[in-house]
Amino acid sequence: MEIRQEGCQYTLYKEQTAIGAARLEAGHVWVEIDPAWRQRGYGSYLLKELLRQNGGLDPKQKSHFTAALPEEEAARALATKFDFVPAGDRLVRRRVPDLSAVGFCHDFLAARLAPGGLYIDATCGNGHDTEFLCRLAGPSGRVLALDIQQQAVDATNARLAQAGLDGIGRAVRQDHARLGEVAAPNSADCVVFNFGWLPGAAHNVHSTAEGSIPALQAALTALKPGGILAAVLYSGQVIGSGEKEAALAFFRALPLTRYTVLVCEFANWADTAPLPCFIIKK
Ligand SMILES: C[S@@+](CC[C@H](N)C(=O)[O-])C[C@H]1O[C@@H](n2cnc3c(N)ncnc32)[C@H](O)[C@@H]1O
Repeated sequence: MEIRQEGCQYTLYKEQTAIGAARLEAGHVWVEIDPAWRQRGYGSYLLKELLRQNGGLDPKQKSHFTAALPEEEAARALATKFDFVPAGDRLVRRRVPDLSAVGFCHDFLAARLAPGGLYIDATCGNGHDTEFLCRLAGPSGRVLALDIQQQAVDATNARLAQAGLDGIGRAVRQDHARLGEVAAPNSADCVVFNFGWLPGAAHNVHSTAEGSIPALQAALTALKPGGILAAVLYSGQVIGSGEKEAALAFFRALPLTRYTVLVCEFANWADTAPLPCFIIKK
């Protein structure tokens, strides 16, 4: 079996015989299988490949497809199998990207912070969060990024330069436990921690409770009133659960009169799932 594609047209061949075709035009899907070959899974095969090639099966992508309302039972079953649902005079299949712990943090911060502030990335790693903070801060803002590994500092500065954001943000090698040395009290609008190890590097260099609790304390001191500390906590085989438990105990003991504390569990994920937390300084 083979699918040959020409532009938006897909043709399904069994040996040298074309037994089905599909087309995608402006998000509108059309699938037809030769009646002699129906009810054998060829429609599924073709439609799945069309969706896959156009981002419809990628959990990180947003996608939107439409199709005509089918008259035949088999075509209706095929549409239902791939989650097309009736909407007015057509079928619609909509996907939003799966929510991740880091994505959720970004959404939360973007909804609450305005351009122009001082933003701190206390664990810059490969610079994804720093880049996000630079875009949020905008040209009138400033982003300071810290990491204990030179490799991470270099990766972050390279990412910022490539994105044309090096006028807004800069990474330096610094233990976040000493964050107080680079940020004055009540100066920061936001401090972000994405704990754990540097993706793509050795797992034995990772944050630990010993350094993370003083760093969280220093971050709260650095925050302005109204500022937000965002932290994604991790646990698991390599890093254990000590840092996560210590951070949660620290957050839960913060006085209600001075801080609002949110612990946002993905309740149907594994216990070791990343845990986004937010502290808002009053
Ligand atoms: C999960 S990664 C961060 C990912 C990163 N924010 C990004 O967007 O790519 C965790 C980072 O924390 C750093 N780190 C661990 N302990 C640290 C410490 N005491 N001070 C500063 N950074 C630390 C690690 O070197 C690693 O790069």
